[in-house]
Amino acid sequence: MKDKIIKIVTIVGARPQFIKAAVISRLITNEYSGALSEYFVHTGQHYDSNMSEVFFQEMLIPEPDINLEVGSGSHGRQTGEMLYKIEEVLLQQKPDWVMIYGDTNSTLAGALAAGKLNIPVAHVEAGLRSFNRKMAEEQNRVLTDHLASLLFCPTEVARQNLEAEGIEAGVEVVGDVMYDASLFYRTMLEGMLAEQRSLPSANFYLLTLHRAENTDNPERLAAIVEALNSLDNFKGVFPIHPRTRKALQRQGQKLKAHIKVVEPVGFLEMLRLEEACDFVVTDSGGLQKEAYFFAKPCITLRDQTEWVETVEAGWNVIVGADKENSLLTLLIN
Ligand code: UD1
Ligand code: UDP
Repeated sequence: MKDKIIKIVTIVGARPQFIKAAVISRLITNEYSGALSEYFVHTGQHYDSNMSEVFFQEMLIPEPDINLEVGSGSHGRQTGEMLYKIEEVLLQQKPDWVMIYGDTNSTLAGALAAGKLNIPVAHVEAGLRSFNRKMAEEQNRVLTDHLASLLFCPTEVARQNLEAEGIEAGVEVVGDVMYDASLFYRTMLEGMLAEQRSLPSANFYLLTLHRAENTDNPERLAAIVEALNSLDNFKGVFPIHPRTRKALQRQGQKLKAHIKVVEPVGFLEMLRLEEACDFVVTDSGGLQKEAYFFAKPCITLRDQTEWVETVEAGWNVIVGADKENSLLTLLIN
């Protein structure tokens, strides 16, 4: 008798999830199609073409089977709309597993919808903790991990975090899927981008900024802008998240010309910038690690990080974003 094909519904919605899911989707299609099938759900949390479509075009993964077009909104509204729309999909698709990634509202909605239907959940990037329960992402991580049956941890620290919360069954330390992404897609860089754009190829730092705790806190945002503007002996390249563009406009903050603000870039261009830059300044989870993968020093504009290993290894410094302008102090000294 032929073995049953295990049906997975993958649920993603935000930029870093397209990158993570691309690695696994390619494997399912190319190496495990006899054992696994995948139905790919995009919640629509990110929807601008440079926050979504570009990743499907570049990363050799099929278009989503369905886009729930939930879009932006308050946490409750966005997560709630995802929850009932995902439930409809799961009732129709009847998967054996639901696969979710990371810590966004799309992750939690997927976990909750599946959990309530008693469909087992596999969580990729399980066990990360900032221990700051005010962060939406921390709430999403903790709740998701407690609903999951298979928990794929990127690191041993992540496994220990789960153990401390009493989660031991179904936990596997499998390594970091974003490392696989950076290795695989780096090989596609050559020859693809030569004609592409006017971004510098040397002597700059790469900047990203989008965390709610920075963009939606006028004092922190002002302190960051002040610090970056003062660093006029460094050139910065800043692919700006739409949330941050809106926050800067709303709060009347302007970055000076030595920081080149550009639209969000695709993953391949991002890898090229990471390879070319001198150092990274960011509040992104993913970029802290990619800086490490590319052996670039990273300055993290947050008060804590989930990726403590990058700090312990000496490649990442957590500087916060307060009025003392610790970023500036750090770079000047
Ligand atoms: C979300 C995740 C965050 C992750 C980030 C990755 C949550 C709670 N947050 O944050 O963990 O690090 O994605 O980038 O899930 N917007 C657009 N176009 C888009 C998408 C967003 O203009 O395509 C603007 C909207 O004004 C929106 C704002 O960005 O209100 C925030 O978007 P949202 O998806 O709610 O949160 P992110 O900050 O992107
Ligand atoms: N990224 C990208 N284009 C950009 C900015 C980021 O492709 O303009 C990639 C980045 O290289 C990393 C991922 O998006 O792989 C990180 O996503 P983001 O910072 O949005 O979210 P986080 O990791 O903080 O959840």
